[in-house]
Amino acid sequence: NIPVLTLDGPSGSGKGTIARAVAEQLGWHLLDSGALYRLAALHACRQDVPLDDEGALAALARDLPAEFRQDERGEPHILLAGEDVTWQIRTEQVGDAASRVAAIPAVREALLERQRAFRQPPGLVADGRDMGTVVFPDAPVKIFLTASAEERARRRYKQLKEQGVSVTLASLSEEIAERDRRDAQRSAAPLRPSRGALELDTTGVPVDEVTGQVLARVKA
Ligand code: CDP
Repeated sequence: NIPVLTLDGPSGSGKGTIARAVAEQLGWHLLDSGALYRLAALHACRQDVPLDDEGALAALARDLPAEFRQDERGEPHILLAGEDVTWQIRTEQVGDAASRVAAIPAVREALLERQRAFRQPPGLVADGRDMGTVVFPDAPVKIFLTASAEERARRRYKQLKEQGVSVTLASLSEEIAERDRRDAQRSAAPLRPSRGALELDTTGVPVDEVTGQVLARVKA
């Protein structure tokens, strides 16, 4: 039975950063499930598939021509139909579209097996919203990360600034709040901690410390 560590939580809770650090330290594989929803959204936009055409979106998600690779330096690259879209999928626009696409049950169903296929020896760190509740309910270790809304907006702001994206903190806070609402209220896999998940509030806690707490839980 291949071990899985699930890391779920809202936008800006630090999941992505912590998941990467923990996977690296353990030498485990990494599933960035949000990237799959972002890829589905970007693919839909490029193919002119409307974001409310549930059947077409599910078909597109099932046959998503996505590829996850690492370059010689170990940097992750995400490809869509052979094109490197590692950065394109990180925009707020794609994030917003991703959360709409992710609310469609048939899309989630279409991506289920693809996500489970990431469970390979020696282990997997799975980052998302429903890793512990739906995709890997049998995971031996489950973590739910949170942080205050202000801190999450600040982190996202810093991240986007570093990427040269111009946004205001106020508009970003609003977008994040809107996306949180949609993720929490949808009927398909709403964002909530899985039973038995350890909840960690990362507000004001440095990355190294959170990484250490998560690793301690895995090794316990
Ligand atoms: O980085 P951030 O947390 O903002 O976004 P993400 O993890 O890349 O996910 C983008 C969107 O995909 C989220 O707002 C969710 O609506 C959706 N998502 C999901 O529904 N289930 C997952 N396992 C991962 C992401």
